[in-house]
Amino acid sequence: MRVDGRPQRTIWLEPDGWAVGIIDQTRLPHDFVTVRLETVEQAAHAIRDMLVRGAPLIGATAAYGMALAMRSDPSNDTLATAHRLLLATRPTAVNLRWALEEMLAALGTLPPPQRAAAAYAKAAEICDQDVAICEAIGDHGLEVFRQVWQAKGGADRLNVLTHCNAGWLATVDWGTALAPVYKAHDAGLPVHVWVDETRPRNQGAGLTAWELQQHGVPHTVIVDNVGGHLMQRGLVDLCITGTDRTTANGDVCNKIGTYLKALAAHDNSVPFHVALPSPTIDWTLTGDPAAIPIEQRDAAEVTDIAGRTEDGRVETVRLTPAGSPAANYAFDVTPARLVSSLITERGSCPATRDGLAGLFPEQAAP
Ligand code: MRU
Repeated sequence: MRVDGRPQRTIWLEPDGWAVGIIDQTRLPHDFVTVRLETVEQAAHAIRDMLVRGAPLIGATAAYGMALAMRSDPSNDTLATAHRLLLATRPTAVNLRWALEEMLAALGTLPPPQRAAAAYAKAAEICDQDVAICEAIGDHGLEVFRQVWQAKGGADRLNVLTHCNAGWLATVDWGTALAPVYKAHDAGLPVHVWVDETRPRNQGAGLTAWELQQHGVPHTVIVDNVGGHLMQRGLVDLCITGTDRTTANGDVCNKIGTYLKALAAHDNSVPFHVALPSPTIDWTLTGDPAAIPIEQRDAAEVTDIAGRTEDGRVETVRLTPAGSPAANYAFDVTPARLVSSLITERGSCPATRDGLAGLFPEQAAP
């Protein structure tokens, strides 16, 4: 996508050909700052402290983290240590495990002197593949949007509600849930996005709103509790979110609050779609939502909030009384029965075991 009109991915190789560039997403929307990663420890820090975030981008950054590790020492010990370090950074997004397994499969059998070059090549492949997958999700999602819009008689506004940030900032480019939004906007559909602010880290208010603004997509930021009201008033035509892990039977784990939106959508007969690249499917899990590890983060993300002051400084202030405990569950699971369809790079399907198996027969267990 574009930043100030210039093409931009979320992760890239620096001109020296070995260091890795990322956007520091903790600085958005107030400042656009890029960071150079030179070590696997820096890559792990970038994932853990959410300079990069979003399931596909977490995977892509981990892949480059392995490449940085191999550049400094291609031994078996470092391969295992780097894998362990990166895998421990964030627990919920299964793309992390997937990308690391891809890297191990590509590197494990190679003689150490060949590993660094192979690791960079594999990481670049994972990134390019993510871009192609997300663009395909956009094309399939566009058809879903078009159908809803046509059913609405080609109305002058197609109201889409999204939660968290599942745009290009969460992937290498295009995004998952926002890829159809960009495709629809570019195709001339009058799309307008209700952007859930997504407390506590405000990925909607800070990142989704920024992305949409950069692309010129009409949008309105709302606090997290507004969606149900808008749906009751007929002001939401469809919901679309991303996911950090979708089980083989179609249960969707995504940013905390997604489940409540899906419940409200179900109660109001609003379609609730989930966009996902196939590396987000955890084929090992089925039927037991409690088996998905739910990240719990620092309570300070709930008790404190950061923002820009009128004189341009970015400051953090406390919201809650000193001493009040806070809990910070970062994800929840939306049962498959509340999901209207899963939109993947191979097309849309019902959120069922058979639906996913139909699109990915080579992955589904017999
Ligand atoms: O905690 P985050 O910001 O990494 O959470 C991101 C999400 O929940 C996204 O919806 C999900 O990763 C899908 S992104 C394409």
